[in-house]
Amino acid sequence: ATPTALPEKDCTSITPPYPKLQQNLTTIRALLGDRPLTLAEKILYSHVHEPERTLANGGIKRGETYLQLSPERVAMQDASAQMALLQFMSAGMSRCAVPASIHCDHLIQAAEGAEKDLQRSIVTNQEVFDFLESASRKYGIEFWKPGSGIIHQIVLENYAAPGMLMLGTDSHTPNAGGLGMLAIGVGGADAVDALTGTPWELKAPKIIGVHLTGKLNGWTTPKDLILHLAGKLTVRGGTGAILEYFGPGVFNQSCTGLATVANMGAEVGATTSTFPYTPGMRAYLQATGRAPVARAADKAAASGFLAADEGAEYDEVIQINLSELEPTINGPFTPDLATPLSKFGSFVREQGWKDELSAALIGSCTNSSYEDMTSVADLARQAKKAGLKTQVPFLCTPGSEQIRATIERDQVTRELEDVGATVLANACGPCIGQWKREDKQGEENAILTSFNRNFKSRNDGNRLTMNFLASPTIVTAMAFAGKLSFNPMTDSIPLPSGESFRFSPPRGKDLPEAGFTPGETSYYPKPTPEPQPETEVVIRPDSQRLEILQPFPSHFGEGSGNNRGLELPPLKVLMRVRGKCTTDHISAAGPWLKYKGHLTNISENLLITAVNDEGGDVNVAFDHEHGPSESETDTIPAVAKRLKARKQPWALVVDDNYGEGSAREHAALQPRFYGCAAIVARSFARIHETNLKKQGILPLWFVDKADYSRIGSGDVIETLGLADLLEGKADADIRLRVTRRNGEQFEIPVRHTMSADQLKWLRAGSALNHIRAQITA
Ligand code: F3S
Repeated sequence: ATPTALPEKDCTSITPPYPKLQQNLTTIRALLGDRPLTLAEKILYSHVHEPERTLANGGIKRGETYLQLSPERVAMQDASAQMALLQFMSAGMSRCAVPASIHCDHLIQAAEGAEKDLQRSIVTNQEVFDFLESASRKYGIEFWKPGSGIIHQIVLENYAAPGMLMLGTDSHTPNAGGLGMLAIGVGGADAVDALTGTPWELKAPKIIGVHLTGKLNGWTTPKDLILHLAGKLTVRGGTGAILEYFGPGVFNQSCTGLATVANMGAEVGATTSTFPYTPGMRAYLQATGRAPVARAADKAAASGFLAADEGAEYDEVIQINLSELEPTINGPFTPDLATPLSKFGSFVREQGWKDELSAALIGSCTNSSYEDMTSVADLARQAKKAGLKTQVPFLCTPGSEQIRATIERDQVTRELEDVGATVLANACGPCIGQWKREDKQGEENAILTSFNRNFKSRNDGNRLTMNFLASPTIVTAMAFAGKLSFNPMTDSIPLPSGESFRFSPPRGKDLPEAGFTPGETSYYPKPTPEPQPETEVVIRPDSQRLEILQPFPSHFGEGSGNNRGLELPPLKVLMRVRGKCTTDHISAAGPWLKYKGHLTNISENLLITAVNDEGGDVNVAFDHEHGPSESETDTIPAVAKRLKARKQPWALVVDDNYGEGSAREHAALQPRFYGCAAIVARSFARIHETNLKKQGILPLWFVDKADYSRIGSGDVIETLGLADLLEGKADADIRLRVTRRNGEQFEIPVRHTMSADQLKWLRAGSALNHIRAQITA
């Protein structure tokens, strides 16, 4: 039966501008020589900013060309939105260049159950929520209050649309790919690009095709497809690539099932995942009040925009027959350790683990669709009839208020609670470690979740908790057995009567027959709110968690002689960093996360796990001009702070692939905050290099990598040739004059990757300063 839909919404701001996108694509196609394109290419290229300019530089080569893109929407969660908004505010714009939304989900801690947890977390994080809410009002951002649900579920229910390009400040943003779009997880600085209308740069990804045939059946779900694929590809297999699914096996799956698959593409490192437009997507759009989007997508699909062209070439094709898949369990500690259910019992025995489950958790952004919840309710009904209850704590996290209210109305919640479930708040909770778990601390134990990540300590902070990932139905069935070795497809559970009970394969409904119900609408924002410029953004002056971001001053002064004010001032070398230095080394996470919105406080962690090549110690720097009350060695942030206090700009000398790991913008903001003006590297990780440029730090590459060892802490480096470059001489030679502490002087060649636009950022002190100057000009 066609489900009753929510009342039709005004979809003006959420319908992709298909005619304009298709027009853009036609321009690109002509310039590319009309070759068949994959779906991912169509979506990406239709969002290219100024196609002629991009192609003038020699066409588009996957894995090589940098694309300048114009995303249509930005979604941010409460933890990462803080620095994104603080940066956006410092650009001085009165409204966002594209529609945006903020979702309060990561800061809610699970302990006792939905209502109490929500109230307690609101009190603990009040100042952050007040800040986000007031900034949303000021700039016209849709603000989803605590309790409204998890960012990715809300995006799927409200904003996602076939063919759209969206950025989100969370790694599972690709979840929205379930609706046939490209949704990409980024750091706050990238989100600010989109929010300020600055073209967002992405290296044209490779495209891995996943050809699906057959049909999922019995106990096998979309989660098992991605768990199986994660085993095949490993955690790095998708790096720099988009996973594009195609073939008949796509069309017999629900939209929310495809979203689960897209969500966990992040676990193989993929840029994002997508699917051609399907009848399931149309039905989901209609059921969630977005029939106008479905109608527009139908039209775009009819002209071939929402699927790959016949003969499109993939960089690699993986074949999967869904009929042959079996349920899979991945883990512990890594999402790519995949074991088919039939072999899991022997795997547990071989490892010598206790055959005991200690908790079962379902829901999260990955698996809390109506289909997931009605499937697990079916198992709960079967078990209840046999007189069974779950043997271990059984926690359920609905993905959104809409899901929570709909499953409550349809008695799903009651059926789960009848067998022992605790329903948590509509928020991330245990999935992100916001789980105040009272038992098993410090003990080895095993939990099963339907979430997406299972790194050590991720869920309960206990490094000894072995966390396995599975479909919600496998998690639920195992909760009744309480044993890791239980295979619900073949095993029975003994009953007190002496009889035994075996589950039938679960049956769920992909959409509610009575339609979705919105639930508590006070959590919801007004659709497309107008900015209220008179709103004061709430930041307490004594706050330890939030701080207004002050614009960074430009490095360039008046100058003298040849320098014309266009060379960097003489820079003191803070240290020579040895070996691997990821964004985690530069800006550690863990307890520091609470300071994400307070640059002064979080900067206290600058490079605290980096190794100083002069001496080999961690978090040790030398202060060669220490004052009477200071020592000669100190922590790295302490010495950086002293240089800042002495108004001495400084530089770092670093090794290969500096800044690998993530798009964390704090890793560029923090050195800049303490006065870093240049970083000279054997090589840079690309995203971090761009982040440095955005914050006004000049990244330079050694031409001869051996020069790395010739510069040490306390040496002074001066740029030569930068003035020519800034004055438009694109092929200017850049050199560094190094004056060692013993007075020895020499010059070394370096190279740069600064584009003309990026040079403007450097000159202005940061990309945001440049944008602000343009707005006020
Ligand atoms: Fe939240 Fe976990 Fe998803 S942290 S956004 S529920 S991955």
